[in-house]
Amino acid sequence: MSKIFDPVESASQAELASLQLRRLQNTLGHAWRNVGPLRLKFERAGVRPEGLASLADLAKFPFTTKADLRDAYPFGLFAVPREQILRLHASSGTTGKPTVVGYTRADLDTWASVMARSIFAAGGRPGDLLHNLYGYGLFTGGLGFHYGAERLGCSVVPVSGGQTEKQVQLISDFKPRIVCCTPSYLLTLADGFAEQGIDPASTSLKLALAGGEPCTREMRAAIEARLNLDVVECYGLSEIIGPGVAMECLETKDGLTIWEDHFYPEIIDPASGEVLPDGEFGELVITTLTKEALPMIRYRTRDLTRLLPGTARPMRRLDKFAGRSDDMLIIRGVNVFPSQIEELILKSPALAPHYVIEVTRPHNLDEVEVQVEMQAEADNETARSQAAAELQHHIKSFIGISARVRVVPAASIERSVGKARRVVDKR
Ligand code: DLL
Repeated sequence: MSKIFDPVESASQAELASLQLRRLQNTLGHAWRNVGPLRLKFERAGVRPEGLASLADLAKFPFTTKADLRDAYPFGLFAVPREQILRLHASSGTTGKPTVVGYTRADLDTWASVMARSIFAAGGRPGDLLHNLYGYGLFTGGLGFHYGAERLGCSVVPVSGGQTEKQVQLISDFKPRIVCCTPSYLLTLADGFAEQGIDPASTSLKLALAGGEPCTREMRAAIEARLNLDVVECYGLSEIIGPGVAMECLETKDGLTIWEDHFYPEIIDPASGEVLPDGEFGELVITTLTKEALPMIRYRTRDLTRLLPGTARPMRRLDKFAGRSDDMLIIRGVNVFPSQIEELILKSPALAPHYVIEVTRPHNLDEVEVQVEMQAEADNETARSQAAAELQHHIKSFIGISARVRVVPAASIERSVGKARRVVDKR
């Protein structure tokens, strides 16, 4: 049986580059002709679509940001008449109005095909039973996985998120091989099995397609061990298409192959906006190459990663995400990513992977409190205070900040249904 789903996945670098250039020229022309606010930005920057003679010329074009989408709320960046939009999705931001995205018939087709390709690369096969826990609705997760899995030929259980007890029952009865949800919900699910007296490592689940939020290598290893399955990561964002922008391949699990025939990646220095060479860490910027309804030119994702050469596929990989530039906490001048604290928590065998980081500024000075749960079997007062002292020491020596650590009893931190909210910044 073939190792790839779509022949383009084996295109050579040269074939890919010529396809990208042609598609990029089309996309810039389409945006210029049909999206007023983008044409205005091009004019201000003194660029025209005809000015793009090579892929490197893209660096001359202006970025698009979430603020551009917000200013054009709800439909102002659409490049086709509203009547040609077959579907709308929206993502809620932390502030103000949601970001609205639209899809033509061809866009929905592209989305299903990149998702089918993604699920295949992650190890899904036609005939697999797939339990889809991503939220159905305005969030792109549910329907994105749904149509991709159907396109591949899986049997889809469109259950959506929440109601863990019911999920446990359905999984026990239907025996799916694949589950799709955020990494944090996999933890909730494992607890749900344990609560009903089922060993989480003994279920029918062998493959989890996890994404929508960051997950450190340590967290992934803990989830894989607890549920006895492979966790394969999926990346995407509504503004670009939804899930299906990049996917890890099961055979290597070494970063996410970005489907470069549809999404052109660049890495920039988030401060200067300058394009960085492959291999250097910075902010991921994506230009859509085939989108009709909402062509995105150099969209600043705020996600921090780097581009690596292809391994399982010739297309390039995105390294595991370090976080988002807007997630970075500045604690008394020290830059801290929540993922650094997560790594340290996961290194302690006494602690469970459930935590919340709270930041306050009581006397004009930043204070951090990490609340983290004890593993149920090791839970007693002495063990808790010992684990707290150890973690506090590790945070001080590895990250360089003084945090207060409160180790709380097992199952006392609120479980997530979709994306986990692990940082509460009260400053
Ligand atoms: O979260 C789409 C999605 C759904 C992807 C299901 C994968 C699985 P948004 O709600 O627009 O779309 O949020 C996009 O989530 O910019 C990242 O910050 C974060 N994110 C998504 N996948 C990953 C991942 C969906 N694998 C935002 N690792 C993105 C780290 C991720 N962060």
